[in-house]
Amino acid sequence: MVTGAANGLGLAIARRLCAGGARVLLVDSDKTVLSRVGEKDLPGARTFAVVKDLSEPDAASFVFDEVSKTLGLADILINNAAWSFHKPMLEVTVAEFDRLVGVNQRAPFFLAQQFLRHISQAAVRPRDPVIINIASVNALVGNPGLAPYAGTKGALVAMTRAMAVEMQEFKVRVNSISPAAVETFVTKNLIASGVIVPSKLLENYLVKRFASCEEIAELIAYLCSEAATFVNGANWVIDGGYVAQ
Ligand SMILES: NC(=O)c1ccc[n+]([C@@H]2O[C@H](COP(=O)([O-])OP(=O)(O)OC[C@H]3O[C@@H](n4cnc5c(N)ncnc54)[C@H](O)[C@@H]3O)[C@@H](O)[C@H]2O)c1
Repeated sequence: MVTGAANGLGLAIARRLCAGGARVLLVDSDKTVLSRVGEKDLPGARTFAVVKDLSEPDAASFVFDEVSKTLGLADILINNAAWSFHKPMLEVTVAEFDRLVGVNQRAPFFLAQQFLRHISQAAVRPRDPVIINIASVNALVGNPGLAPYAGTKGALVAMTRAMAVEMQEFKVRVNSISPAAVETFVTKNLIASGVIVPSKLLENYLVKRFASCEEIAELIAYLCSEAATFVNGANWVIDGGYVAQ
């Protein structure tokens, strides 16, 4: 199951997991997600979609009802959906802050909780379950205009460790990834509006480019695979060397 799969990174992750043979449930608040089913890399026989705003309190149970109706059993949960805004601290409202926490931090927690209930009820498990939380390099470095967003991503990294420890008993592996700038529609818009100045941002990167969605999705595919069974409770930084300096 991949959240935020209508666009950007979530869509690339869903395509990559599907290419690896997975059946995938795409979740998003954007109705576009429905039209993704049946696309070339997301064959209708193995792809399902549901529209849901994950900031709503009933989101996790609603989505897992859908998992039961479509996939039957989900053994991979990718918490990718997120909201973000760039704003000076002095302008951030309580409503904006609460919505960020609701989407970026509360939803991944309750989806993980529901995932644990879901896999605990399964009579047979073909493989040990995996959760991947998509954090951000902003969990590790400070940037202006991003304090509330950075807080939610830092929380996700910390939650990942605690979840991995608590869920080892159920043989669930939990890891997070922290990407630097990825080439997505959102990033392109931020460049177009002048919020991101690529030449300035890339001064901080050892690799002088943005990541592609596909290379991030490749890391996710590895972390979900049987090759990664020794990897647990870790935060994988994929940032072109940004935090190395
Ligand atoms: N793009 C980057 O440079 C970058 C860098 C580091 C981390 N990330 C993280 O990667 C993930 C994907 O980012 P992206 O750039 O592909 O963003 P995106 O905006 O293209 O995709 C995010 C998806 O989440 C969905 N979504 C947002 N709020 C939702 C809600 N309340 N309920 C359900 N769905 C919701 C959106 O509709 C969208 O389809 C996010 O967690 C983001 O924080 C992105």
